[in-house]
Amino acid sequence: MKKMKKLVVGNWKMNPESLLEAKKIVTEVKRGLRTIKNTQVVVCPPFVYISPLSGLQSDLLMLGAQNANADQMGSRTGEVSFSQLPQFNIGFVIVGHSERRKMGEDNELVNKKVKSVVSEGMTAIICVGENTRDNGGEYFNFIKEQISCALKDVPKKLLTHVVIAYEPVWAIGATALGPSELHEMSIYIKKVLKDLFGVFSSDMRIIYGGDVDRNNADRLVKDGNVSGVLVGRASLRPKDFVEIIKLIDSI
Ligand code: 13P
Repeated sequence: MKKMKKLVVGNWKMNPESLLEAKKIVTEVKRGLRTIKNTQVVVCPPFVYISPLSGLQSDLLMLGAQNANADQMGSRTGEVSFSQLPQFNIGFVIVGHSERRKMGEDNELVNKKVKSVVSEGMTAIICVGENTRDNGGEYFNFIKEQISCALKDVPKKLLTHVVIAYEPVWAIGATALGPSELHEMSIYIKKVLKDLFGVFSSDMRIIYGGDVDRNNADRLVKDGNVSGVLVGRASLRPKDFVEIIKLIDSI
């Protein structure tokens, strides 16, 4: 079977301030990716930049979305539907980011969104992660609940269209998890997926997010036993983002 590529996703959140800057970042990142062989790179800009950036996509760099509305087309002022995304060659959508969960997105809505994403032929990057860690390890159950709810009624054959992004909320914009703790969690997530679907599909990728930068990316992936990273702040700095991608590509 063909080995799945590693995955590096940039989540720009509500940045940058102008389309000009957005184009500069994408152009500069693309220039740095010419030697990349084993890594799929996805950049998720705010919706307003998707259409003007879509022409800059290539085999090296694809665009993703940060969210969409799970409902079909219609009366939803200010919203964008999942079915509106593929026309811009969007292949990936982040679902259930903790910043959206904070705005009220619950496990049930995340599940609805995951099903919409995969039914449109795109890949759902499902974010899971505990808010805090307790000494008793209760956070493992929290992650299990998030994963099993998000994947409820998702057909096994569509699991290749699902990526689990483990992003402990306390690490986002703060300090990354250590590689050994990540290793422990990635084994746990694989076990959860195996329990849910019978087998752990090697076509399914688990990635890590939360304070990933050029100083920790390769150790997190190598020693943390994950297939890639979801990068916030550093994905807006083209040099750093390219460096992260190169480090991961060479693992
Ligand atoms: P930082 O890399 O800025 O910590 O953000 C992580 C994140 O939330 C990516 O989705």
